[in-house]
Amino acid sequence: MNYKVMSYSEKDTIELAQNIESEKFPNMVICLTGDLGSGKTIFAKGFASALEVEEEVTSPTFNIIKEYTSGEMPLYHMDVYRLDQNKEEIGIEEYYTKGGVTIIEWADMIESILPEERMDIKFKISEENEDARTIIITPYGQKYEDVCEAVL
Ligand SMILES: Nc1ncnc2c1ncn2[C@@H]1O[C@H](COP(=O)(O)OP(=O)(O)OP(=O)(O)O)[C@@H](O)[C@H]1O
Ligand SMILES: [Mg+2]
Repeated sequence: MNYKVMSYSEKDTIELAQNIESEKFPNMVICLTGDLGSGKTIFAKGFASALEVEEEVTSPTFNIIKEYTSGEMPLYHMDVYRLDQNKEEIGIEEYYTKGGVTIIEWADMIESILPEERMDIKFKISEENEDARTIIITPYGQKYEDVCEAVL
């Protein structure tokens, strides 16, 4: 089952993230994919603000993994765009069960080490309107299906 959502502004994408955050649970994994500048980091920032993370959330492109612990639950924000070989060695998988929420940008680049149960969110930039995004959400596993049922 796929859910299709349209976003017409940065604010819409933030609201989507906030709605999903309202159904968060420990060890939730959210996998973001989509073109450069399509809104993955905006989504992560929206999620973090709903979690009441106090630190500024910035793109983790060069750090790969950033941990924010000031919110209601730990947030592990990753961007694996620049991760080449040695995927296993930096310990991404350990985060899935550390009790917080993991958000991974460019998750399709590490397909082989994604957990089976997760939420995939794919952003596509509209050709007609530069601020519009088609967002396809796919839940894998009952808990993620319940989240989608609750908020979409
Ligand atoms: N509907 C929308 N949703 C999200 N962002 C939007 C939207 N419309 C315009 N934008 C703009 O698009 C940009 C999205 O940037 P963002 O850093 O979130 O992209 P990204 O997918 O993380 O890119 P990268 O692949 O480089 O990490 C922002 O400048 C934002 O203001
Ligand atoms: Mg980004």
